Amino acid sequence: MKVSFSTYSLGAAFVSMLCVPACGTSNHPSNSGSGGSSGLAASGGSAGPLGSGGTSGQAGTGTSGTATGGQSRTGTGGAGAGGAAMGGQAGTGTGGTATGGQSRTGTGGAAMGGQVGTGTGGAGTGGQAGTGTGGASAAGGAGAGGQGGGSSAPGTLVNTYDGARTTTVSFDSAWKFHLGDASGAQGATFDDSSWTSLDLPHDWSISLAFNQSSAATYEGGYLDGGLGWYRKTFTLPASSSGQRVIVQFDGAYMDSTVYMNGTQICARPYGYSSFECDFTSGAKVGGSNVLAVKLNNQQPSSRWYSGSGIYRHTWLKTVNPVRVAYTGTRVTTPQVSASSATVNIAVTVQNDGTTDQSVTVASSVRDAAGTEVGKGSSAATSVTAGKTVDVTHTVTVSNPKLWSPSSPTMYSVVTTVSVGGSVVDTYTTPFGIRTFAFDASTGFSLNGTKMKINGLCNHHDLGALGAAVNYRAIERRLQILKDMGANGLRTSHNPPAPELLDIADRLGFLVMDEAFDCWYNGKHTYDYGRFFKTWATTDITDMAARDLNHPSVIIWSIANEVGETSDSATVKQLMDAIKTKDTTRPIGQALAAWASADTAAVGLEDVVGINYAPDRYDSIHTAHPTWKMFGSETSSALRSRGIYNNANNQESSYDDSWAGWGQSAETSWTNVNTRAWIAGEYIWTGFDYIGEPTPYEWPSKSSYFGIIDTATFPKDVYYFYQSKWNASGPTMVHIVPMNWTNWTAGQAVKVFVYSNADSVELFLNDKSQGSKATAAATGHLQWSVPFATGTLQAKATKGGAVVATDTVKTAGAAAALVLKADRASITADGRDLSFVEVDIVDAQGVVVPQANNRVDFTISGPGAIVGLDAGDSTNHDSYKGTSHAAFSGKLMAIVQSTATAGKVTLKATSGSLTGSSVDITTAAP
Ligand code: GAL
Repeated sequence: MKVSFSTYSLGAAFVSMLCVPACGTSNHPSNSGSGGSSGLAASGGSAGPLGSGGTSGQAGTGTSGTATGGQSRTGTGGAGAGGAAMGGQAGTGTGGTATGGQSRTGTGGAAMGGQVGTGTGGAGTGGQAGTGTGGASAAGGAGAGGQGGGSSAPGTLVNTYDGARTTTVSFDSAWKFHLGDASGAQGATFDDSSWTSLDLPHDWSISLAFNQSSAATYEGGYLDGGLGWYRKTFTLPASSSGQRVIVQFDGAYMDSTVYMNGTQICARPYGYSSFECDFTSGAKVGGSNVLAVKLNNQQPSSRWYSGSGIYRHTWLKTVNPVRVAYTGTRVTTPQVSASSATVNIAVTVQNDGTTDQSVTVASSVRDAAGTEVGKGSSAATSVTAGKTVDVTHTVTVSNPKLWSPSSPTMYSVVTTVSVGGSVVDTYTTPFGIRTFAFDASTGFSLNGTKMKINGLCNHHDLGALGAAVNYRAIERRLQILKDMGANGLRTSHNPPAPELLDIADRLGFLVMDEAFDCWYNGKHTYDYGRFFKTWATTDITDMAARDLNHPSVIIWSIANEVGETSDSATVKQLMDAIKTKDTTRPIGQALAAWASADTAAVGLEDVVGINYAPDRYDSIHTAHPTWKMFGSETSSALRSRGIYNNANNQESSYDDSWAGWGQSAETSWTNVNTRAWIAGEYIWTGFDYIGEPTPYEWPSKSSYFGIIDTATFPKDVYYFYQSKWNASGPTMVHIVPMNWTNWTAGQAVKVFVYSNADSVELFLNDKSQGSKATAAATGHLQWSVPFATGTLQAKATKGGAVVATDTVKTAGAAAALVLKADRASITADGRDLSFVEVDIVDAQGVVVPQANNRVDFTISGPGAIVGLDAGDSTNHDSYKGTSHAAFSGKLMAIVQSTATAGKVTLKATSGSLTGSSVDITTAAP
């Protein structure tokens, strides 16, 4: 159904004037009807300082690391946690070795001591050394009560945002889940045997059928939320005695209550906040414990698809009572030049013990290769029992390699906290060295060089994977944006998964890190508005504390399009909260097109983000010439991949369709790039997302705003941005339409060409249609070509030589499937992914542009199909099935490894078409 034009075209401005500030629904009339991260560069494992035979040892990291003592960790390529096993705790990973009271699960892992590990290939004998298939032999004796894991867990995860610590291990494996309420489910003795076994991260909504009557409505993609319970039964080793034991959640949507052995240990309403729960006092050391989590995602809770569940990673932290506090390091670089950088390191030391302690803190600054490039330490400092103390030191780094989108060099600080000469905590903080500035007249500069922020807004869902975080899926998405020439991301409209910022650091993006889509008035009945007054200061402070060491983060955003923007007290409250943690970044918000910019509250902010309304750019700049402005949200143009008209709930790819409050890609690009004082833009959106299918409702369930569809296939407009943002990058040329089939003979077909070359000549069946020169101000080159079957080719020239070509051919009837894996070899860690593109081709191998054939899949070997999608908003096939219709000739199948190495074969068939298959090797980490 298309929302009536009269309502739709009024745009955000009109509706918001009617309902702000007490707008209880969407701002949009159309909507409402009204290998691990870069990891530790450690070599080998180090022996645990505190003992052997299963007491709290130190983990080693890196290639072939081994350790005696309570913990051992091995990894490959310095990628961090390749198989952690710690004193009596479940070990995870592949092929690691360990000595001491340990248990291990995972292919090839050696299970030793404690209890028997239960993962694939893991084996062991309680209290005795055991050996696992392919794993190194165990050398330890009796362990200290180890725990066998459930399903095998990969060994490549490292928690970085709370400091990479070897005493932090993944807590993702072997959970039980129940959708719906369950009386007494928090209790230690509750029988959860009938519940579903699964590993986190998990999003229960993505597996549900699309429901036209869902209270989530079109905004939530017609996928229900509800109430759900998770439980995890685990043994805490005796070696945890005297330590603090903490579970950390990167995010759980939403309104979580966490219980340990029946007693509530914490609660967190906001589904996008990361938080830790200390359960030391309720834990049974050396015995079995049950962690239970209740989530309540009442609908409608969001203006987009939120997902439901413990959809981000969880961690078990076993730490000394004297340690670096949660998110307790702040690394800043107040002075940076080509020859030296001053690195200030502030460390919050926490003493949860019962006696005061004298602590020494030392920090080693490492370059990207792990080589020490500076160090500092503090004099002994007393930390009162139950209190924290801030310790600072300054390190000078010579000839620093500056971080930038084109050269995203990272450093790290390894901080050790010692008591009485013994190290009680080691905590690694990644950081980068760079300077940046916003200027009211000249815009944005990084390391002294002026540049535009060429950014994208994105929601957090990962298409067919739903909201469930997957490192490789995020990395691949950001890589696709990077290849388009993007250098910026806005985490609309909430704190992102921590991995996203790790990857943004590593790939080089300028991030606007956003806290909230609503304040206390809310936008939906069950959204965060209910909790804002009680929780906003905590949530935004935690966001800043968590994210402040990322060089990628350049703006803190306190809001998106809230109706309460004139409330100076709240603006100040949120800004002050951030400033308790970080004063090095500007704070702003994304002002709605309808929100007045002439309020005292807006004037309090460091930067001013304007959503849409480019017609306001000049007047606001004139009225407030000292304001540092940028397009916090732009364009909202609509398009469907491979579609060239507005019919059947699809939108044309000729860049001629946009929301009532938006502009075409070319117009919004021009509005930003013809004004030096606009620092840049964050386009709505990089990827299509589930929900908010403006301008339609059912059967449409996902957005049309994306430059790339939900299945991760680029739409034509991807190449417009590539031609502009990668103007000096690899030469490219792209023909619109991608379809040279569904036209009638002689019909004048509008042909656009995007290119960053000097000129382009177009040929139909080798006959020139003329050559056109590109110009900086030109969005696209255009021809009108009378249709004839055959081949349309664009040849781009630079300096007179042909440097790039693009070809579209007329397709015949669909005849076969062609499968292409983005990576033929992936890591056997239970998380890594291969994205397999399925093309429907004719007898000559030409993609059939209108094909929407149903494709059926089977898989064999150690892998699973974890998602199917073709990017068609109107399709209701499950993202989680084994059969899915193609769209515009293509379909994506996402294959995930297990923890077993081997060969995975994905086979695809489609009726009478010739089927095909692809092999993917999964290799031990
Ligand atoms: C903006 C809003 C976004 C999204 C977008 C769609 O006004 O901030 O969340 O709704 O409109 O055009």
